[in-house]
Amino acid sequence: MIGHLLDGKQFASNLRGKVAGHVAELTRTHGITPGLAVVLVGEDPASQVYVRSKGKQTLEVGMASFEHKLDAGTSEAALLALIDRLNADPAVHGILVQLPLPSHLDSDLVINRISPAKDVDGFHISNVGLLGTGQKAMVPCTPLGCLMLLRDHHGSLSGLHAVVVGRSNIVGKPMAQLLLGDSCTITIAHSRTNNLPEICRQADILVAAVGRPEMIPGDWIKPGATVIDVGINRVERDGKTKLVGDVEFGSAAAVAGAITPVPGGVGPMTIACLLANTLTATCRAHGLPEPEGLTA
Ligand code: GUN
Repeated sequence: MIGHLLDGKQFASNLRGKVAGHVAELTRTHGITPGLAVVLVGEDPASQVYVRSKGKQTLEVGMASFEHKLDAGTSEAALLALIDRLNADPAVHGILVQLPLPSHLDSDLVINRISPAKDVDGFHISNVGLLGTGQKAMVPCTPLGCLMLLRDHHGSLSGLHAVVVGRSNIVGKPMAQLLLGDSCTITIAHSRTNNLPEICRQADILVAAVGRPEMIPGDWIKPGATVIDVGINRVERDGKTKLVGDVEFGSAAAVAGAITPVPGGVGPMTIACLLANTLTATCRAHGLPEPEGLTA
């Protein structure tokens, strides 16, 4: 290991502490408690783990947590009716529908039913459009977390060449928009990009979000570059299940200037940013000033 380790676990813990301080202040001075509603349809084990963790951390920062666990066969009409109720509920400032939804449900329809002001995932088409045009939006949590780590490490990102490998609506596309907003030069690459190793080697900032275990080895990385590994892949090694990123950590850490580990890098930032977004949504809903440094 030569490069600097970007400690997302510590950063996320500090961020949650900051959010908790603002929540306490909001409750004390205005009698407002931010509320986050999380909707889980079905029993996907990974989703259950995430939802449990979100609920726990929401309570830990002093917010109200509303969990709605619906059975896998829930109809679209029933799910939309729940979202309508949450949209109208003044105790709920943020709504998150855990993805993926069972295949009989239309995710786009469901997500676009959430009031954009309560869309703390930043997935509603209005928030996507606001982010793409540089306007005040709710920003997707994982890319927001990556941006915070990058700003903290670099200060200014202006003029740097960022290569984002991955084009998902949840990470790749909003990540590219955020980096463009910070005046990076952007290349969006993906698993079908020609000459992917050469393109990665041009990156001052390399964001890997393709969902392929250890696809990016150290010799695709420019010496001194900053590497943000968004991948969380479960692999079997020596009869044990292990979490690895989209980057081959050992070889990459030997050439990178800075790198996020898996686990303990980007992962913990996602829920911390979800809580930050819920606080931001609460302040906006009540016409109060937003705390600094919690969004893009
Ligand atoms: N499933 C995986 N990541 C996410 C996320 O960031 N938000 C939601 N709602 N579902 C997810």
